[in-house]
Amino acid sequence: MNLNDLKQEFLKRFGGDDKDIRFFTSPGRVNLIGEHTDYNGGFVFPAALSMNTTIVARPRNDGILRMQATDLDIKVEGSLLEIEKYKDLEWGNYQFGVASELMKAGYNVIGADMLYHDTIPHGGGLSSSAAIEVATAIAMVMLGGGQAPDGVEMAKIGQKAENNYIGVNCGIMDQFASAMGKKNHAIFLNCKDLSFKLVPLALDGMKIVISNTNKKRSLAASKYNERRSECEIGFEILKKALPNATCLGDVTYEEFEANKYLIENETVRKRVAHVISEDDRVLKSVEALNKGDIVKFGELMTASHHSLRDLYEVTGEELDTLVEEALKIDGVLGSRMTGAGFGGCTVSIVKNEAVDEFIKCVGEAYERRIGYKASFYVSEVDDGGREVFI
Ligand code: GLA
Repeated sequence: MNLNDLKQEFLKRFGGDDKDIRFFTSPGRVNLIGEHTDYNGGFVFPAALSMNTTIVARPRNDGILRMQATDLDIKVEGSLLEIEKYKDLEWGNYQFGVASELMKAGYNVIGADMLYHDTIPHGGGLSSSAAIEVATAIAMVMLGGGQAPDGVEMAKIGQKAENNYIGVNCGIMDQFASAMGKKNHAIFLNCKDLSFKLVPLALDGMKIVISNTNKKRSLAASKYNERRSECEIGFEILKKALPNATCLGDVTYEEFEANKYLIENETVRKRVAHVISEDDRVLKSVEALNKGDIVKFGELMTASHHSLRDLYEVTGEELDTLVEEALKIDGVLGSRMTGAGFGGCTVSIVKNEAVDEFIKCVGEAYERRIGYKASFYVSEVDDGGREVFI
């Protein structure tokens, strides 16, 4: 749907005239490498997608938020005065979480009618929720009379909404990528201090292909929080030997090797080994990309998947099948799961001429082995969250 169609849809649902209607958008993301490193103060390398959430919004003067989505048969209505009441909504809770965090941070948040239109698959690990958070944050700040807000601030608001309101202890990567993405660039982000560089994605003759397991992710949030606490336990142990380290991101590969015997619990040791080696792979990947060495970049992606499978144990049969089948195709340079894992998507770098064969062969093999279909997207890398105009 283009913005004009969306405006008509908005007027059909909410009535009134189009005088004060505005549009805001923010994208989903794919992480190229650097998984489960963000909440450990490590490096990540995501890119914003052209799949996004667009909001049609019109301010109200009664402190009421009324929200609908084009693909859901749901109408949500709530008061900004009772902001803590909406945590358990099936849909709309992320938006109330964002309003709550914006108000805590001192922004002028006012009531609004808002229609959401998503092109990011829900629950697919491409950060549909971060896109909603960032688009909502930008919309609310600007409807409240503010200027186009700082992207990093909006990313932090989105992360806090998820941590405090939704109860998922996620890191900053998804919201940062959604807010700060740039067309045809990936973001090399240091999650310890949020310093970042935009790296041109010079993938001449190649495409980024995303494959969706379409697996329902039931326990993902609790398993995610469990991994996070295992990392914290591991860090507390290493810290005794490395008193200057403030997070796992500060620990070098050599320091870990010299001190890993201190971590007696094998599971915790494996989790930490993944984080430390993954951080190293991000640095090497960015170096490889800067040199135009896509072969090396692809190898590091695949190594990342194996580490997530064997050490971090967040892949599972569906993601492993997609990666295994992808690597059988000539013209695939690398393939790995992207996002939290436990289902969701993989990302593969595929030569242009092999893309059709990839989708056909991986799709057929997946259906044969898993019993239902995967979905595929050949993705474009786009800009981050912003107001858009007809
Ligand atoms: C989810 C979280 C991110 C990050 C990834 C794993 O997408 O929201 O903060 O931790 O998982 O890398």
